Amino acid sequence: MILDNELERIRQDFPILEKDMGGKPIVYLDSACMSLKPKQVVQAMNEYYEKYPACAGRSMHKLSKMVTDKVADARKTVARFLGAGEPEEVVFTRNATEAINLVSYALDFKKDDVVLTSDREHNSNLLPWQLLSKRVGVKHRVIPSKENMEFDLEKFKEMMREKVKLVSIVHTSNLDGYTLPAGEIIKIAHERGSLVMLDGAQSAPHKQVDVRKLDADFFAFSGHKMLGPSGTGALYAKYDLLERMNPFMVGGDTVQNSTYESHVLLKPPEKFEAGLQNYAGCIGFGEAARYLDRIGRDRVEKHEIDLNKVISERLLQIKGMSIIGPEQPKLRGGIISFNIKGLDHHDVAIMLDEKDIMVRSGQHCVHSWFNAHKMPGCVRASLYLYNTKEEAEKFVDAVAEISKLR
Ligand code: ALA
Repeated sequence: MILDNELERIRQDFPILEKDMGGKPIVYLDSACMSLKPKQVVQAMNEYYEKYPACAGRSMHKLSKMVTDKVADARKTVARFLGAGEPEEVVFTRNATEAINLVSYALDFKKDDVVLTSDREHNSNLLPWQLLSKRVGVKHRVIPSKENMEFDLEKFKEMMREKVKLVSIVHTSNLDGYTLPAGEIIKIAHERGSLVMLDGAQSAPHKQVDVRKLDADFFAFSGHKMLGPSGTGALYAKYDLLERMNPFMVGGDTVQNSTYESHVLLKPPEKFEAGLQNYAGCIGFGEAARYLDRIGRDRVEKHEIDLNKVISERLLQIKGMSIIGPEQPKLRGGIISFNIKGLDHHDVAIMLDEKDIMVRSGQHCVHSWFNAHKMPGCVRASLYLYNTKEEAEKFVDAVAEISKLR
């Protein structure tokens, strides 16, 4: 649990929380989309630009050596953050989306290979498989959830009777905060000879993740949802898989040597990181991982669930209120997605913004789920380690007031 005095110290690391927006402090409840950034992350990035703004892994001069060491250090930190065996199992990408696309292009998919996803995937873990179906003739199948929105293990086992090449599945949903039973999913998939990729964009920032304990084959996530800079992310993959895969983007820094006719690729992860990289971003990403590890993601998770309980209990007293996802707040982590009968979700979000409370409204890049449920969208409040009980109360008071307009 994060105690009040520690929370106060944490909030001091996020200058935006101290600044006034038109005289009032902001209540930021959109961290599932983009988290705020602590001073330490911004400082680490500024340091790159001010002290050693050079290129990693190429030139022989001191500045280049400094960048090379800092990026290597960031890779080690991110690997540790995930519980990866080796830093070389971490490929830096622009975001989770690029990491998933990388696998869809780089793994040896053939016509009629089967890929399974859940029915609440972010477009990032849906469109790559739809494109792969068109490009290669892969069969993409969707595992339906239970009525109560929990994962249906029995249905999954049934669908695994067929030979499946890859189960690519969301770890924690950005729609409702529900965490799928990844350990069991991976065990079942491995028993049947299938690979598993977890879309960890919403899990890695909010709960302790250990890819080796989970035995995940691939794990994709973004830096910008875990206190890191935007345009950063990573793909974790077991090293033998990275060795086996061919990069889908090649160029500078991916090769050992080339002639007019051929080339020899470097080992992973370099062979997947083509061209000059976002060095400041990688360094800031590493700093974000270090920051979260210092606080402890078990405590972050508990803090969010405590706030979710406060919010859910009070929201459900509002007339016309429905919350998307499992009933129990503890199954919805730091996310509360809801609708108020008779009110448009965007209108609610705009009215909250007028009170300096920032949420997201719409379909949250999970259009497929909303279309299947014939729902136009919802309002989503998403929490993080810097949110307080007072903010939770303020948010619910504001929603209660808005609900009177229906
Ligand atoms: N995946 C991001 C969200 O859920 C964009 O808001």
